Amino acid sequence: MLIDSYNRVVDYLRVSVTERCNFRCQYCMPEKPFSWVPKENLLSFEELFEFIKIAIDEGVKKIRITGGEPLLREDLDKFIKMIYEYKPTIDLAMTTNGYLLKGVAQRLKDAGLSRINVSIDTLKRDVAQEIAGKDVLENVLAGVEEALRVGLKVKINMVPMKGINSQEIVDVLEYSKERGMTIRFIEYMENSHAKKEIKGLKSKELLSLLAKHYRFSDDGFDGHSPSHYYTMEDGYKFGIIEPYEDDFCQKCNRIRLTAEGYLIPCLYFDEAMSIAEAIKRRDIKGAALVLKEVVRTKPEKNRWGGEDAEVSKRAFYETGG
Ligand code: 5AD
Ligand code: SF4
Repeated sequence: MLIDSYNRVVDYLRVSVTERCNFRCQYCMPEKPFSWVPKENLLSFEELFEFIKIAIDEGVKKIRITGGEPLLREDLDKFIKMIYEYKPTIDLAMTTNGYLLKGVAQRLKDAGLSRINVSIDTLKRDVAQEIAGKDVLENVLAGVEEALRVGLKVKINMVPMKGINSQEIVDVLEYSKERGMTIRFIEYMENSHAKKEIKGLKSKELLSLLAKHYRFSDDGFDGHSPSHYYTMEDGYKFGIIEPYEDDFCQKCNRIRLTAEGYLIPCLYFDEAMSIAEAIKRRDIKGAALVLKEVVRTKPEKNRWGGEDAEVSKRAFYETGG
């Protein structure tokens, strides 16, 4: 079992298979980065899998494939199948922008993927274009329908931003609810790569807007999910991800692996250690030691909130959020 210095069990690994993306979301990658990681620095699926096996053997029970946009990487279904076949009981999920989902949802499901999270920040075509930097809405919605049709469980992520999509929170909630999908509103996390002008809606503002339309009760946190859940009178649950709140990190159970092989203990901080060398040498013990060291050095909490609050320098497209 992997346990950090604050007694948190780390059993959730997020694996970013590429930092590249076909969207340019304002809160993540409004401009193409000055340079991408050169392709030759990317770990192959076989190499990533070598590390994933170690992580699973050390106690990881949940794996989420992220990006950039993970579906840009060819043969992703084969990678998913490798993980699934190694441990069919693993909770195997993916976060995607949904644009390329329609053509591959069935294959991903057949390979062993059980759940996906898709970002839907708006249901208006022009607003989607403004947020993602291209005309994406039709493909994303078709991708969601297809995912539901093939039996993937789907959660929706929405980042409400003032003056952009905040007036649509009820519409996106209703869209999700109608399809039996949980929606999670994510507070915009300030980072130095995002567009400077963005003002995210904080959870209190969101709740007061939602309270004009619904009555709901506060369920608190559900297990290790970073999401604070609320139940509406008809039983529908929605979540809010509040990284600025003091208790956000208390139950954090996750670490992140980048496509280059850096293991990152916390989404906020820049610190990371590479497992690439060890994996390329087939040094299982060495890679396991790096894993344990990263877990040991996992910080107690992020610095988005509190008195010494700062903007994070970590690029979300490297860590997949
Ligand atoms: N703040 C909040 N959420 C973000 N995401 C990406 N960047 C940010 C940010 N700065 C979310 C996307 C997507 C997931 C990968 O992370 O909305 O749902
Ligand atoms: Fe791409 Fe996701 Fe970043 Fe948008 S939030 S630019 S879809 S990686």
